[in-house]
Amino acid sequence: MKSEQMSAIDRSATGMRSRPIYMDHHATTPVDPRVLDAMLPYFTEKFGNAASVNHLYGWEAYDAVEAARGQVASLLNASPREVIFTSGATEANNLALKGVMRASRPGSHLVTAAAEHRAVLDPARRLQRDGYQVTVLSVDEHGRVDPEQVAAAIRPNTVLVSIMLANNEVGTINPISEIGRVCRAKQVTLHCDAAQAAGRIPIDLQTLPVDLLSLSAHKLYGPKGVGALIVRKGAGRVRIEPLLDGGGHENRLRSGTLPVPLVVGFGRACELAAAALPEEATRLAWLRDRLWTGLSAQLDGIRMNGHPTERLPGNLNVSFEGVQGDALMAQLKGVAVSSGSACTTAEPEPSHVLRAMGLSETLSRASVRFGLGRGNTEQEVDAVIDEVAQAVRKLRRITRFGP
Ligand SMILES: Cc1ncc(COP(=O)(O)O)c(C=O)c1O
Repeated sequence: MKSEQMSAIDRSATGMRSRPIYMDHHATTPVDPRVLDAMLPYFTEKFGNAASVNHLYGWEAYDAVEAARGQVASLLNASPREVIFTSGATEANNLALKGVMRASRPGSHLVTAAAEHRAVLDPARRLQRDGYQVTVLSVDEHGRVDPEQVAAAIRPNTVLVSIMLANNEVGTINPISEIGRVCRAKQVTLHCDAAQAAGRIPIDLQTLPVDLLSLSAHKLYGPKGVGALIVRKGAGRVRIEPLLDGGGHENRLRSGTLPVPLVVGFGRACELAAAALPEEATRLAWLRDRLWTGLSAQLDGIRMNGHPTERLPGNLNVSFEGVQGDALMAQLKGVAVSSGSACTTAEPEPSHVLRAMGLSETLSRASVRFGLGRGNTEQEVDAVIDEVAQAVRKLRRITRFGP
């Protein structure tokens, strides 16, 4: 193998790591080489528009899109005709929330929760500004939504409940089956943001009582810029107003020429995720536990955030007492992780998820999210434990005694 082709992992094994160890798989994942291989022909010789019905170029693009639709559906045990391709989970969430609310009576009611991703909370806020009623439920200390609270929040004019399957910061998995049963009993549509859950934990839409489900390809080793909203057909009562007017693609819910190479990559990524899931989940949970045990053995004053058992296999969110997450981030040259601050604004805010779970502002700012994924190894975990422990000890010395 040529040296420039060596991955960071190979380099780390030979002590010549040139890039930080990647442990931020909740932010995004690398495109699997097998996914890229599947995509490449659709940029070049098979470049047709899937909506062109008069020639071979269009037919092969159409066939590829339909095959991908089947692969996405199959990961979730859904039907291919329930898959509506979008540009990602942000768009899928917007389509679900704005689409359902705008198709309902003015002033209808939406229920969501405080630990949701901004891609749900921001559309909910906009809907509220537009005159819809919105209830934002609190979460418990582990970041979970209580199904009884959902039941209590539902009013006669409630049309939609939107609760995520797994949290992107702390990995907590919500009791969606129970929440779904509550919604079914009250005849309210349930939307579920599964951007972090899909491909990481099993999802079976034949048994999970969810009506709308959002997905994103780049969280499961597929390309950025594509995702899907699953619109369950059994839930015939779901009326959705599209966000875009155009050619009426995707069952009139999402107009616009489909990005065929991205869709093909998304499909292949789902197929690979389905095949790898049980083994990968076990391996990542083992690595995650090793990381936690190693950090706890070397450091005191640390706490794990999120649910102790109902959590994503590759997620570890830790608060380090006496340390600023951002300062720690700056110390960690050999590992790419994410701090608990949402740096989407000029003024970094402490994580709204950790704050909703009841953590103080100081502890929220002292948190780091480790997101383990397909490429991570035991050796990398051990290297990260040492580097993090050293950095935390150094920062604590500085805070105690000054630089
Ligand atoms: C839970 C959750 N929802 C939605 C999104 C947005 O996904 P996308 O990047 O596909 O728009 C993310 C990505 O960070 C996420 O973690």
